Formats: sequence, structure tokens, C-alpha cells
Amino acid sequence: MRGYSQFSLLVLWGLLTAAFRVQMVKKELTAIINQTVVLGCNFTVTEELSFENILVTWQRVESNEVVHSYYYGKDQFSEQDAQYSNRTSLFPEEFKTGNASLRLEGVNTKDIGKYQCYVSNTAGNDKGIISVTSAAYYSEPVLTIRQKLLGTILMFESSGYPKADISWYNGGNLVASFLSNCSYCQAADGLYTVRSTMEINVTGRSSTYTFVLRNAAVNQTISRTLKLLVGEDSSLKPNPPLDCSRMLSFILVALLVIIVLPMILHQLKYMKRKKIKYIIADST
Ligand SMILES: *[C@@H]1O[C@H](CO)[C@@H](O)[C@H](O)[C@H]1NC(C)=O
Ligand SMILES: *[C@@H]1O[C@H](CO)[C@@H](O)[C@H](O)[C@H]1NC(C)=O
Ligand SMILES: *[C@@H]1O[C@H](CO)[C@@H](O)[C@H](O)[C@H]1NC(C)=O
Repeated sequence: MRGYSQFSLLVLWGLLTAAFRVQMVKKELTAIINQTVVLGCNFTVTEELSFENILVTWQRVESNEVVHSYYYGKDQFSEQDAQYSNRTSLFPEEFKTGNASLRLEGVNTKDIGKYQCYVSNTAGNDKGIISVTSAAYYSEPVLTIRQKLLGTILMFESSGYPKADISWYNGGNLVASFLSNCSYCQAADGLYTVRSTMEINVTGRSSTYTFVLRNAAVNQTISRTLKLLVGEDSSLKPNPPLDCSRMLSFILVALLVIIVLPMILHQLKYMKRKKIKYIIADST
């Protein structure tokens, strides 16, 4: 009998602890550099759950560094790692809905890694892990064209994260990578600056070059096409200067209004007066 009650207590304890769960909203997340990200973490809310005894701790899995801690009803910063100072917060007003999510501001490349969300209270304790990668959209590429004696060098420069795939097309055909150079250097904020150089030989024919940059982490594709026109190409002929011809017709209309119109009006008046004179002369 005693063994049975012990067994049922164990079952009850198992049920109680099994009832309390921490669940991550996502297993993986891509955070954008210099922006704010929310690492989603939910826990089961039961009626007997007391929020005074809640403990929420976010930690890095690789290093055990404390990212954010909350207990005794407030944020606790004594154990927090310096790199997260003034960058983290929880949503204590949302604890009642089972929300233990972490808000992280000013994301940088050092934030890449695994994070553990641990929640403990009267109903039990549990933890979950989320893997964070970071990325930055590549900036609008800046084009430099350098004319050499026998050939032209095209260079596109752009910054982002992580390293992007670069390709060049001549017409519709992929240019073999050995014709272009691709160099990377990493700035203090962790962003990469890519400079891709393409040397083209002037063959006396017009050609089209396309530079394509792909950042798979954020599904970004930048494509810029350049048309190189050589010699007397019919498509090279400039359009007639539209603004100039418009200006000319405006001046003509203005001249008409200022000079010709008063002359006509004057003439009409003169004719009228002559007519009246004639009538008067006739009546006398
Ligand atoms: C938690 O609450 C915050 C603030 O209201 C919200 O931005 C976030 O999406 C919530 N997370 C979850 C997992 O519900
Ligand atoms: C490519 O790089 C090599 C060495 O890094 C350099 O000698 C060469 O001039 C570069 N080519 C172009 C087209 O910039
Ligand atoms: C990436 O972008 C393309 C087109 O912009 C879209 O069709 C595709 O579904 C996107 N993929 C992801 C993983 O977001």
C-alpha cells in the first residue's frame, strides 16, 4: 500500500513536471546586423503558477555567458556578460501569457551562436535552445570604370554580411570566374566589403556586362547591367534635346502674343474707327 502511494506520487510528480514545458518559437533565426531581434521563448502557463518565484535566464550555449537574468521579480545584471550590457530586455508584463522572449538590440557578428532560454518556477523548470545567425543586406554597389590603354576595368564595390556570391555575365553567358577578381576585407562592425573587378578587352564591338551579387542568408540578389557601346553604334545617337525645342516653341508663342497680337488688335480698332467715321460722314 505504501509502495503504491509512493508510486502514484512519483507519477503525479512526473505529470506535473511534464506539464511544464519551454518551447522555442523558432529553432533558427537570422538577425539583421545593427537592428533589434526578439528571440522567441514560450513556457506553459498553469493556474497555480506564481510569478513572484519565476526565474528566467538566457545564456550562450557555447560559453555559458549570461545574456539576461530575471528573478526576485526584477532584472538581475550582476552576472550579465559585458557584451550584452544595455542591449537586452525581457517582457515581464507578458510572463502571464507564457512569454519569456529576449529582445536584443544592436545585433553584431559576435552575437552569432546558440542561446538557451531557461525558465523555472513553482510548476517546474525547462529549457530550450535557439540558433542565431546574422546577416546584413548588401549596400547599393558603387561602380568604378577605369580606362586603360588596351582595355577597360569595371569594379563594383558593396558591403554586407556574410560573404556574398559574385558572378559576372557577358551578354547572357556566365563569365568564368578567373577573369574577375574578388577581394574581401572585414570592417570593425563585422561587415564585409567586396570589390569585384572585371577586365574587359575592347574588341571593337559593343557588349553588355552584368554584375550579380547574391546574399543567400537574406535571399538578396543585386543585379546591375552595363552596356558598353563602341564607336558609331546606332543606339548611341543621342535623342534630340527635348527641353531646347520646347523652349523654342515657348519663345515663338510668347513673341506672337507680345508683338503680333497687339498689332492685329490695333489694326482691327483702326478699321472700326474708319468705319464709324464713314458712317458719320454719310449721315451729315
Ligand atoms: C512576447 O512579447 C513581445 C512583446 O509584446 C512580443 O514582441 C513577442 O513576439 C512575444 N513573443 C512570443 C513568443 O509570444
Ligand atoms: C587580380 O589579382 C591579381 C593578384 O591578386 C592581380 O595581379 C591582377 O592584376 C588582378 N586582376 C584584375 C583584373 O584586377
Ligand atoms: C527568395 O526570393 C525569391 C524571389 O524574390 C522567392 O521566389 C523565394 O521564395 C525566396 N526564398 C526564400 C527562402 O525566402
